[in-house]
Amino acid sequence: MFSYDSFLAGKIQQLKDAGSYRYFLEVNKSAQHFPHFYYLNNERVQRSAVNWCSNDYLCMSTHEEVIGKLSHTAYKSGTGSSGTRNISGTTIYHKELETTLARWHKKEAALLFNGAYAANVTTLQTLAKNIPGLIFISDEHNHASIIEGMRGCKNEKKIFRHNDTVHLEEILQSIPADHPKLIVFESVYSMSGTISPVKEIAALAKQFNALTYIDEVHGVGLYGDTGAGILERGDLQTEIDIVNGTLSKAIGVFGGYIAASSVVIDFVRSYGSGFIFTTSLPPAICSAANKSIQLIQQNAGWRNEFHRNVLLLRRALQENDVVFNQNDSHITAVPVKDANRCRQVANELLEKQGVYLQPINFPTVPVGEECLRIIITARHQPKHINHLAHSLNKILNGHNQAYRTELPAIGTPIGEGEE
Ligand SMILES: Cc1ncc(COP(=O)(O)O)c(C=O)c1O
Repeated sequence: MFSYDSFLAGKIQQLKDAGSYRYFLEVNKSAQHFPHFYYLNNERVQRSAVNWCSNDYLCMSTHEEVIGKLSHTAYKSGTGSSGTRNISGTTIYHKELETTLARWHKKEAALLFNGAYAANVTTLQTLAKNIPGLIFISDEHNHASIIEGMRGCKNEKKIFRHNDTVHLEEILQSIPADHPKLIVFESVYSMSGTISPVKEIAALAKQFNALTYIDEVHGVGLYGDTGAGILERGDLQTEIDIVNGTLSKAIGVFGGYIAASSVVIDFVRSYGSGFIFTTSLPPAICSAANKSIQLIQQNAGWRNEFHRNVLLLRRALQENDVVFNQNDSHITAVPVKDANRCRQVANELLEKQGVYLQPINFPTVPVGEECLRIIITARHQPKHINHLAHSLNKILNGHNQAYRTELPAIGTPIGEGEE
């Protein structure tokens, strides 16, 4: 007889053998002391460490006005929305946030989801299942949620080499001109930190009459004059049809969304199962996210400080002989290329140095591309940066050189358009 438990246990053991089994650290998050947090070590003793893998890029999850807005709206409206959008779950806060998002992305309308993952899966599947013969043309490095969205329908999929517009053009040429097609890509790739050639992709889409879909999850809040993302920075907001974003990273709250033309939004709203049949976001979450976006729009200086920190981090890594993958974004990956070693280095960093860097293993990255992905935030200070670089050198390279407390002065802050 088939033994369900032993089958599943065997699958788990496979992950453990490969070094890619996931162990969760129970983070006792502190709004006051961020990027420091507390945790209990194996001996159940409370320790403190510096978080180097939070996506709270601008520290908005700890911003007093955002917390205040969330608390105040929860007090007025209660905790949950208690309904799907169609059945009492559309509040004034949902509409207010959708209006803000649409304006921010220079689109006619926006639609909220319970995460960008849900937004990707639902939107891609809803378009593909309803537009006859729609072909997906997808970048090979697209996020798991995009792959899952495409996998869930029978439509043909064509994969182009990462950021390779020559290959993309070849694929477009191979498809009959009157065939519906959707080019799906990201603005900032979450693991490699590469930025896509949006302008070139948009031009090809126009030439071949393809619809375009961009995941701006790691661009929103961090690029462009008002923080609307890579499209805003490149003055390309009207060139791409559908934008996907998250409220959970730079915005520091929770949820996801798409922004597009009124007809696209009305269509996904009307046909998208993953939108229709689920309880809507809590009103307090919507109003806190709205507040956070307003603050992000008004405070371009925060983005400058953030990008200045990225520069400081990379300088410190270089000075401490820590190899990292070069890119033009804010994501800094230190290649380790072995799952077990990646975990072992991460454990030592936490236990010996008070540095929390989650190992990035398969399936988040392909086997052999395991890395430590460093996410800096606006609140990491030079002392944190130096400690991290020194710790990585010590654990990764086995060096124990003198602790450098100061970095050389860096140049002028990076302007929004210069990156
Ligand atoms: C590129 C990309 N898209 C989508 C998502 C999903 O975002 P959310 O956490 O809002 O569901 C992530 C999350 O890590 C991501 O990195």
